[in-house]
Amino acid sequence: TRHLLGIKGLTLQDVELIFETADRFKDVLNQPQIRKVPSLRDLTIANIFFENSTRTRLSFELAEKRLSADVVNFAASSSSVSKGETLIDTVNNILAMKVDMVVMRHPYAGAATFLAKHVKAQIVNAGDGAHEHPTQALLDAYSIREKHGDVAGKKVVIVGDILHSRVALSNILCLKLLGAEVMVCGPTTLIPKYIGALGVKVEYNLRKALNWCDVANMLRIQLERQDIKYFPSLREYTMLYGLNKQILDSLDKEITVMHPGPINRGVEITSDVADSKQSIILDQVENGVAVRMAVLYLLAGQNPS
Ligand code: CP
Repeated sequence: TRHLLGIKGLTLQDVELIFETADRFKDVLNQPQIRKVPSLRDLTIANIFFENSTRTRLSFELAEKRLSADVVNFAASSSSVSKGETLIDTVNNILAMKVDMVVMRHPYAGAATFLAKHVKAQIVNAGDGAHEHPTQALLDAYSIREKHGDVAGKKVVIVGDILHSRVALSNILCLKLLGAEVMVCGPTTLIPKYIGALGVKVEYNLRKALNWCDVANMLRIQLERQDIKYFPSLREYTMLYGLNKQILDSLDKEITVMHPGPINRGVEITSDVADSKQSIILDQVENGVAVRMAVLYLLAGQNPS
């Protein structure tokens, strides 16, 4: 494929190739005296972000620089979008400056697919509304593979705001593709009705879900995407679905704890869990650079120009 718009559309072979390529780049990143390869030195990549980001934006920029690409960054908040310029005009103007690939985050579901249809550049989706966040799902699955040896057969529960989460949808698609068993857990108001059709289990009791799983991925409550009246209060949410050390230590086995970030400490996860030895949260962030290098490198190979 020329673009990466979502996990939907990828095959098992695609994901395995991304992981094998990421393994090679991780070896490079682990050698401080190298850390950089010339693979994409002829490529110019624009990172265009219409929504805030810390990890994804910096991780893509580092991945691009480690591959020796030329990089330009665009934040919509400080751009001429505020003067009424459309998405297509904005991107076509950036492309006129001889940019080859666009990494885009946008608050609306489908924005990356829309852009791929209307401009002549390779598009990488860095998160589109509540739809997909494919590189997050890839780095999450890669981190499970690294910690547990394999993803196939592992039991993964995704806890929290499933309804508004692009991380949840992309994770479900990616984990299922790789042969994991997937469960979602959260309040009824935050679990969409269609979720069963994706072949996942649903559990409304956190303790039962944690006792079932090998890995728990704790999601943030996406206050920016939801109507407050449908939502249990944050205090209620924390009481029922917050992961704390007492619960973690009371489980029959030692589970792995993940979080895509940003963390709201004390809401969905307490600090002593986030910072515990069972947490692989910062490994996820570290792996994000190698996985994004792999994605960009493989996509660049699909560029006919
Ligand atoms: N996990 C993630 O997408 O974080 P950012 O919003 O900071 O990019």
